[in-house]
Amino acid sequence: MTEVARIDQGDAFLRTEDLCKAFPSGNGTLTLFRDLNLTVRRGEMVAIVGESGSGKSTLLHMLAGLDRPSAGAVYFGSTLLGKLTAGQAAAFRNREIGYVWQMHYLLPEFTALENAAMPLLARNMPKNQAFAAAARLLDEVGLGQRASHRAGELSGGEQQRVAFARALVAGPGLLLADEPTGSLDASTADSVFRLLTQLHTAHQLTSILVTHNLDLARRCDRTLRLRDGQLQQIPVAGMQPDQTPPESTADTGTSNVQSSCVRVQAPGPA
Ligand SMILES: Nc1ncnc2c1ncn2[C@@H]1O[C@H](COP(=O)(O)OP(=O)(O)O)[C@@H](O)[C@H]1O
Ligand SMILES: [Mg+2]
Repeated sequence: MTEVARIDQGDAFLRTEDLCKAFPSGNGTLTLFRDLNLTVRRGEMVAIVGESGSGKSTLLHMLAGLDRPSAGAVYFGSTLLGKLTAGQAAAFRNREIGYVWQMHYLLPEFTALENAAMPLLARNMPKNQAFAAAARLLDEVGLGQRASHRAGELSGGEQQRVAFARALVAGPGLLLADEPTGSLDASTADSVFRLLTQLHTAHQLTSILVTHNLDLARRCDRTLRLRDGQLQQIPVAGMQPDQTPPESTADTGTSNVQSSCVRVQAPGPA
Protein backbone atom coordinates (compact mmCIF):
# COMPACT_ATOMS: atom_id res chain seq x y z
CA MET A 1 0.00 0.00 0.00
CA THR A 2 1.40 3.41 -0.83
CA GLU A 3 2.13 5.99 1.83
CA VAL A 4 -0.54 8.23 0.39
CA ALA A 5 -3.12 5.46 0.68
CA ARG A 6 -2.17 4.68 4.27
CA ILE A 7 -2.24 8.24 5.57
CA ASP A 8 -5.62 9.80 5.92
CA GLN A 9 -5.09 13.37 4.77
CA GLY A 10 -6.88 14.48 7.94
CA ASP A 11 -3.77 13.26 9.81
CA ALA A 12 -1.44 15.31 7.65
CA PHE A 13 0.50 18.02 9.42
CA LEU A 14 2.37 19.00 6.30
CA ARG A 15 1.59 17.89 2.78
CA THR A 16 2.84 18.57 -0.69
CA GLU A 17 0.60 18.02 -3.67
CA ASP A 18 2.24 17.29 -7.03
CA LEU A 19 5.10 19.63 -6.23
CA CYS A 20 7.25 20.68 -9.17
CA LYS A 21 10.31 22.87 -9.26
CA ALA A 22 12.27 23.85 -12.32
CA PHE A 23 14.99 26.45 -12.89
CA PRO A 24 16.13 27.93 -16.18
CA SER A 25 19.56 26.48 -16.91
CA GLY A 26 21.64 27.49 -19.93
CA ASN A 27 19.44 26.94 -22.96
CA GLY A 28 17.24 24.43 -21.17
CA THR A 29 15.50 23.78 -17.88
CA LEU A 30 16.73 22.06 -14.75
CA THR A 31 13.76 20.13 -13.34
CA LEU A 32 14.36 19.28 -9.70
CA PHE A 33 10.96 17.87 -8.67
CA ARG A 34 8.24 16.26 -10.68
CA ASP A 35 4.88 15.72 -8.98
CA LEU A 36 6.55 15.22 -5.63
CA ASN A 37 4.07 14.10 -2.97
CA LEU A 38 5.03 14.08 0.68
CA THR A 39 2.76 13.68 3.68
CA VAL A 40 4.14 14.14 7.16
CA ARG A 41 2.03 13.30 10.19
CA ARG A 42 1.96 15.39 13.33
CA GLY A 43 4.76 14.32 15.65
CA GLU A 44 6.81 12.47 13.05
CA MET A 45 10.56 12.86 12.73
CA VAL A 46 11.46 12.31 9.09
CA ALA A 47 14.96 12.16 7.62
CA ILE A 48 15.64 13.14 4.01
CA VAL A 49 18.82 11.91 2.37
CA GLY A 50 20.05 12.34 -1.19
CA GLU A 51 23.08 13.18 -3.25
CA SER A 52 24.45 16.68 -3.24
CA GLY A 53 22.48 18.73 -5.76
CA SER A 54 19.40 16.48 -5.64
CA GLY A 55 17.31 19.36 -4.29
CA LYS A 56 17.08 18.72 -0.54
CA SER A 57 17.65 22.35 0.46
CA THR A 58 15.30 23.60 -2.25
CA LEU A 59 12.62 21.24 -0.95
CA LEU A 60 12.99 22.53 2.62
CA HIS A 61 12.81 26.12 1.33
CA MET A 62 9.52 25.32 -0.38
CA LEU A 63 8.14 23.58 2.71
CA ALA A 64 8.96 26.75 4.66
CA GLY A 65 7.40 29.02 2.03
CA LEU A 66 10.83 30.61 1.41
CA ASP A 67 10.67 29.60 -2.25
CA ARG A 68 7.66 29.00 -4.48
CA PRO A 69 7.06 25.81 -6.42
CA SER A 70 6.81 25.99 -10.22
CA ALA A 71 3.59 23.99 -9.85
CA GLY A 72 1.77 22.08 -7.16
CA ALA A 73 1.11 23.08 -3.59
CA VAL A 74 2.35 22.93 -0.01
CA TYR A 75 -0.32 22.63 2.67
CA PHE A 76 0.37 23.27 6.30
CA GLY A 77 -2.74 21.72 7.84
CA SER A 78 -5.41 23.45 5.78
CA THR A 79 -3.23 26.48 5.00
CA LEU A 80 -2.06 26.66 1.39
CA LEU A 81 1.32 28.40 1.63
CA GLY A 82 1.16 29.67 -1.97
CA LYS A 83 -1.91 31.77 -1.17
CA LEU A 84 -0.13 33.81 1.49
CA THR A 85 1.35 37.19 0.65
CA ALA A 86 5.07 37.64 1.37
CA GLY A 87 4.22 39.41 4.63
CA GLN A 88 1.72 36.74 5.69
CA ALA A 89 4.24 34.02 4.83
CA ALA A 90 6.94 35.71 6.94
CA ALA A 91 4.57 36.01 9.92
CA PHE A 92 3.47 32.40 9.40
CA ARG A 93 7.09 31.20 9.40
CA ASN A 94 7.90 33.22 12.50
CA ARG A 95 4.99 31.60 14.33
CA GLU A 96 4.94 28.07 12.96
CA ILE A 97 8.38 27.07 11.66
CA GLY A 98 11.77 26.69 13.29
CA TYR A 99 14.62 26.46 10.76
CA VAL A 100 18.18 25.27 11.38
CA TRP A 101 20.94 25.34 8.77
CA GLN A 102 24.27 23.53 8.54
CA MET A 103 25.99 26.88 8.98
CA HIS A 104 24.03 28.17 11.94
CA TYR A 105 23.80 31.78 10.61
CA LEU A 106 24.03 33.30 14.06
CA LEU A 107 25.05 36.94 14.34
CA PRO A 108 28.62 36.55 15.68
CA GLU A 109 28.83 39.92 17.43
CA PHE A 110 25.59 39.35 19.34
CA THR A 111 25.34 37.24 22.47
CA ALA A 112 23.86 33.76 22.58
CA LEU A 113 20.88 35.27 24.42
CA GLU A 114 20.33 37.99 21.82
CA ASN A 115 20.61 35.48 18.98
CA ALA A 116 18.16 33.09 20.61
CA ALA A 117 15.70 35.93 21.22
CA MET A 118 15.75 37.22 17.60
CA PRO A 119 12.47 35.65 16.39
CA LEU A 120 10.62 37.18 19.34
CA LEU A 121 12.29 40.59 18.95
CA ALA A 122 11.36 40.44 15.25
CA ARG A 123 7.70 40.24 16.23
CA ASN A 124 8.15 43.20 18.59
CA MET A 125 7.82 41.30 21.84
CA PRO A 126 9.08 43.44 24.75
CA LYS A 127 12.80 42.77 25.31
CA ASN A 128 12.48 41.50 28.89
CA GLN A 129 9.92 38.88 27.82
CA ALA A 130 11.90 37.87 24.73
CA PHE A 131 15.11 37.51 26.74
CA ALA A 132 13.34 35.53 29.48
CA ALA A 133 12.01 33.07 26.89
CA ALA A 134 15.43 32.87 25.19
CA ALA A 135 17.12 32.20 28.56
CA ARG A 136 14.75 29.28 29.18
CA LEU A 137 15.61 27.80 25.79
CA LEU A 138 19.34 28.27 26.32
CA ASP A 139 19.01 26.42 29.64
CA GLU A 140 17.20 23.64 27.84
CA VAL A 141 19.94 23.24 25.24
CA GLY A 142 22.57 23.20 27.99
CA LEU A 143 23.95 26.68 27.37
CA GLY A 144 22.49 28.62 30.29
CA GLN A 145 26.03 29.44 31.43
CA ARG A 146 26.96 30.82 27.98
CA ALA A 147 24.03 33.22 27.54
CA SER A 148 26.18 36.35 27.67
CA HIS A 149 28.94 34.98 25.40
CA ARG A 150 29.18 36.30 21.88
CA ALA A 151 28.03 33.71 19.36
CA GLY A 152 31.31 34.06 17.46
CA GLU A 153 33.23 32.91 20.54
CA LEU A 154 31.31 29.64 20.94
CA SER A 155 32.35 26.24 19.58
CA GLY A 156 30.63 24.75 16.53
CA GLY A 157 28.46 22.45 18.65
CA GLU A 158 27.54 25.28 21.01
CA GLN A 159 26.65 27.53 18.10
CA GLN A 160 24.34 24.84 16.73
CA ARG A 161 22.70 24.56 20.17
CA VAL A 162 22.05 28.32 20.10
CA ALA A 163 20.59 27.86 16.62
CA PHE A 164 18.18 25.25 18.04
CA ALA A 165 17.22 27.65 20.83
CA ARG A 166 16.56 30.38 18.26
CA ALA A 167 14.55 27.99 16.09
CA LEU A 168 12.28 26.98 18.96
CA VAL A 169 11.99 30.15 21.03
CA ALA A 170 8.79 31.25 19.32
CA GLY A 171 7.10 27.89 19.90
CA PRO A 172 6.78 26.54 16.34
CA GLY A 173 5.11 23.22 15.55
CA LEU A 174 7.45 22.34 12.68
CA LEU A 175 11.24 22.07 12.80
CA LEU A 176 13.12 22.01 9.49
CA ALA A 177 16.81 21.21 9.83
CA ASP A 178 19.14 21.28 6.82
CA GLU A 179 22.24 19.20 7.59
CA PRO A 180 22.38 20.55 11.16
CA THR A 181 25.29 18.28 12.08
CA GLY A 182 27.05 18.46 8.71
CA SER A 183 29.92 20.66 9.85
CA LEU A 184 30.49 18.97 13.23
CA ASP A 185 32.88 16.18 14.22
CA ALA A 186 31.30 12.75 14.81
CA SER A 187 30.96 12.91 18.59
CA THR A 188 29.63 16.51 18.59
CA ALA A 189 27.23 15.57 15.78
CA ASP A 190 25.95 12.71 17.90
CA SER A 191 25.30 14.88 20.95
CA VAL A 192 23.68 17.62 18.83
CA PHE A 193 21.44 14.99 17.21
CA ARG A 194 20.49 13.59 20.63
CA LEU A 195 19.55 17.11 21.68
CA LEU A 196 17.46 17.45 18.53
CA THR A 197 15.50 14.29 19.34
CA GLN A 198 14.98 15.45 22.94
CA LEU A 199 13.68 18.82 21.74
CA HIS A 200 11.49 17.07 19.16
CA THR A 201 9.76 15.14 21.98
CA ALA A 202 9.72 17.86 24.63
CA HIS A 203 8.28 20.49 22.28
CA GLN A 204 5.91 18.06 20.56
CA LEU A 205 7.41 18.95 17.21
CA THR A 206 7.00 17.58 13.76
CA SER A 207 10.54 17.50 12.37
CA ILE A 208 12.11 17.10 8.95
CA LEU A 209 15.85 16.62 8.95
CA VAL A 210 18.14 16.63 5.92
CA THR A 211 21.29 14.65 6.60
CA HIS A 212 24.09 12.78 4.87
CA ASN A 213 24.58 10.70 7.97
CA LEU A 214 22.71 7.41 7.63
CA ASP A 215 23.44 6.54 11.27
CA LEU A 216 21.41 9.58 12.28
CA ALA A 217 18.76 9.01 9.60
CA ARG A 218 18.23 5.51 10.97
CA ARG A 219 17.27 7.00 14.33
CA CYS A 220 14.35 8.95 12.78
CA ASP A 221 10.82 7.55 12.33
CA ARG A 222 11.40 7.09 8.61
CA THR A 223 13.96 7.96 5.99
CA LEU A 224 13.19 9.25 2.52
CA ARG A 225 15.63 9.50 -0.33
CA LEU A 226 15.35 12.36 -2.81
CA ARG A 227 16.41 11.16 -6.22
CA ASP A 228 15.41 12.09 -9.74
CA GLY A 229 12.85 14.54 -8.43
CA GLN A 230 11.01 11.96 -6.33
CA LEU A 231 10.99 10.90 -2.69
CA GLN A 232 11.27 7.21 -1.96
CA GLN A 233 11.05 5.59 1.42
CA ILE A 234 14.14 3.52 2.17
CA PRO A 235 14.74 0.88 4.78
CA VAL A 236 17.85 1.90 6.71
CA ALA A 237 17.89 -0.86 9.33
CA GLY A 238 21.01 -2.96 9.03
CA MET A 239 22.66 -0.59 6.58
CA GLN A 240 26.26 0.45 7.08
CA PRO A 241 26.80 4.21 7.31
CA ASP A 242 28.81 4.31 4.09
CA GLN A 243 26.45 2.09 2.10
CA THR A 244 24.35 3.49 -0.69
CA PRO A 245 20.70 3.17 0.31
CA PRO A 246 18.99 0.31 -1.52
CA GLU A 247 16.13 0.77 -3.94
CA SER A 248 12.78 1.92 -2.69
CA THR A 249 10.39 -0.56 -1.13
CA ALA A 250 7.62 1.88 -0.36
CA ASP A 251 6.68 4.95 -2.31
CA THR A 252 5.68 8.14 -0.58
CA GLY A 253 3.29 9.03 -3.32
CA THR A 254 2.91 9.17 -7.04
CA SER A 255 5.91 9.00 -9.31
CA ASN A 256 4.83 10.42 -12.58
CA VAL A 257 8.21 11.32 -13.99
CA GLN A 258 6.62 12.26 -17.30
CA SER A 259 5.07 15.36 -15.81
CA SER A 260 6.11 18.55 -17.52
CA CYS A 261 5.49 20.57 -14.35
CA VAL A 262 3.50 23.18 -16.19
CA ARG A 263 0.43 23.41 -13.99
CA VAL A 264 -0.11 26.48 -11.87
CA GLN A 265 -0.48 26.37 -8.09
CA ALA A 266 -3.77 24.72 -7.25
CA PRO A 267 -6.36 26.87 -5.50
CA GLY A 268 -7.40 25.79 -2.04
CA PRO A 269 -8.33 26.95 1.43
CA ALA A 270 -6.09 29.54 3.06
N1 LIG B 1 17.71 29.71 -7.59
C1 LIG B 1 18.27 28.74 -8.32
N2 LIG B 1 18.50 28.92 -9.65
C2 LIG B 1 19.05 27.94 -10.41
N3 LIG B 1 19.43 26.73 -9.92
C3 LIG B 1 19.24 26.51 -8.60
C4 LIG B 1 18.66 27.49 -7.74
N4 LIG B 1 18.59 26.96 -6.48
C5 LIG B 1 19.12 25.71 -6.58
N5 LIG B 1 19.52 25.46 -7.83
C6 LIG B 1 20.11 24.20 -8.32
O1 LIG B 1 19.29 23.14 -7.91
C7 LIG B 1 20.07 22.00 -7.57
C8 LIG B 1 19.72 21.51 -6.20
O2 LIG B 1 20.19 22.41 -5.22
P1 LIG B 1 20.01 22.14 -3.66
O3 LIG B 1 18.57 22.15 -3.32
O4 LIG B 1 20.87 23.12 -2.94
O5 LIG B 1 20.59 20.66 -3.52
P2 LIG B 1 21.03 19.84 -2.23
O6 LIG B 1 20.60 20.60 -1.02
O7 LIG B 1 20.37 18.51 -2.36
O8 LIG B 1 22.53 19.70 -2.33
C9 LIG B 1 21.52 22.43 -7.71
O9 LIG B 1 21.99 21.97 -8.95
C10 LIG B 1 21.45 23.93 -7.67
O10 LIG B 1 22.50 24.50 -8.38
MG1 LIG C 1 21.68 21.44 0.58
